[in-house]
Amino acid sequence: MSPLSFDTGRDAPRTMSRMAFGLTGSEILRIAGEVRALKASGSSVLDLTVGDFDPKQFRIPAALESRIADALAKGETNYPPSNGMPALRDAIVRLFARDLGLDYPADGVVVAGGARPIIYATYRALVNPGDHVVYPVPSWNNNHYVHLTGAKGIPIETGPGSRFLPDAAMLRPHLRDARMLALCSPQNPTGTCFDAEGLKPICDLVLEENARRGSDEPPLYVMYDQVYWMLTFGGTRHVTPVGLDPRMAPWTIFVDGASKGFAATGLRVGWGVGPPAIIKRMSDTIGHMGAWAPRAEQVAVAGFLDDAAAMTEFRTSFHGDVRRRLELLHEGFQSMKTAGLPTDSIAPMGAIYLTVHIGAKGRTTPDGRVLASGDDVRRYLLEAAAFALVPFNCFASPSENWYRCSVGAVSEDDIRGALPRLRAALAALR
Ligand SMILES: Cc1ncc(COP(=O)(O)O)c(C=O)c1O
Repeated sequence: MSPLSFDTGRDAPRTMSRMAFGLTGSEILRIAGEVRALKASGSSVLDLTVGDFDPKQFRIPAALESRIADALAKGETNYPPSNGMPALRDAIVRLFARDLGLDYPADGVVVAGGARPIIYATYRALVNPGDHVVYPVPSWNNNHYVHLTGAKGIPIETGPGSRFLPDAAMLRPHLRDARMLALCSPQNPTGTCFDAEGLKPICDLVLEENARRGSDEPPLYVMYDQVYWMLTFGGTRHVTPVGLDPRMAPWTIFVDGASKGFAATGLRVGWGVGPPAIIKRMSDTIGHMGAWAPRAEQVAVAGFLDDAAAMTEFRTSFHGDVRRRLELLHEGFQSMKTAGLPTDSIAPMGAIYLTVHIGAKGRTTPDGRVLASGDDVRRYLLEAAAFALVPFNCFASPSENWYRCSVGAVSEDDIRGALPRLRAALAALR
């Protein structure tokens, strides 16, 4: 048998849609590839690049794992309803009421195969090609969802002064023409969170803008991605647009799921919560894609969400394990700063991420190379200190010298072992 040939003799752009040809791959995956190659060569790298959990460090809750096995054994293996298993949607309604103080009806909840299809369905339900979608940068993937849906992205540059979160003054000039504002808290990649003082004025702007628009004009919506909301630290309390002002309910779509809160990224159970009429269209979109969450996992998550004792036990230990890793890193960066090295970090607030500053651009390595960009700095630290992090450039941000550290795949000992290597590599720069 000879191998099949796929050479059509046509230019690549002619062989596929403009959307598909213009889609850019993940920058983080390119970096992850470099890290993998280094690991394969025997180096023990501190891998802070992946926004995922290594099950050797963070297992899913045991009570959830056993419920999945039980559900499979009971034959929960056929199609789930396209908006999600009723038991799970009801459990999500109770979770929102209990933990967020929000009283949603069950038809305001849709379940999908992770939070990603919920984001895609939100864009699809609200945004027409050419519509403006406003999002702060650095941002996780909004640039890609904008491309997928033909929207016009309006990235708003943020900086360390606002902990890389947007504020009302930054957003105000851009909301008049916008169809959707995409917000995330706790935020990927920064690990920083809105507080009521920051989010409430943004809600006021949205309400003001929708009051200004005539009833024949499309309204402005907020997509509020809160997949990390169970992970907040150091006195930070998760806040939501609807919790701060119930008048935001018609204009807010929550993106949420089990992936991050239960270290369960591979289970693929996410949910969206919002106005029933919009949720219905999102559910239809998800149904046509077949992007459902697996049925057994849905049954298991439903039972787990209602198992208050198991939830509390898991959340307490998981929370502490993530927090200690973030604090160790933060203390390491602060102690290097005190020692006069060009580093800084923002105290952990939420998610599995720490924002760090490494002002080594323009410095010269011991072998005489000038580090001309943030990516040069990243590569130097990978080679000289086996310390792997992701520059904010990978999150559509122009901010050089700022990086994301993700702690989902490393132990406390790994971090303790790597900090001296980083310190030595930075001290060796001229
Ligand atoms: C902010 C944010 N939203 C959504 C997702 C997607 O989550 P899921 O794995 O459930 O699709 C991620 C994953 O990294 C994320 O960081």
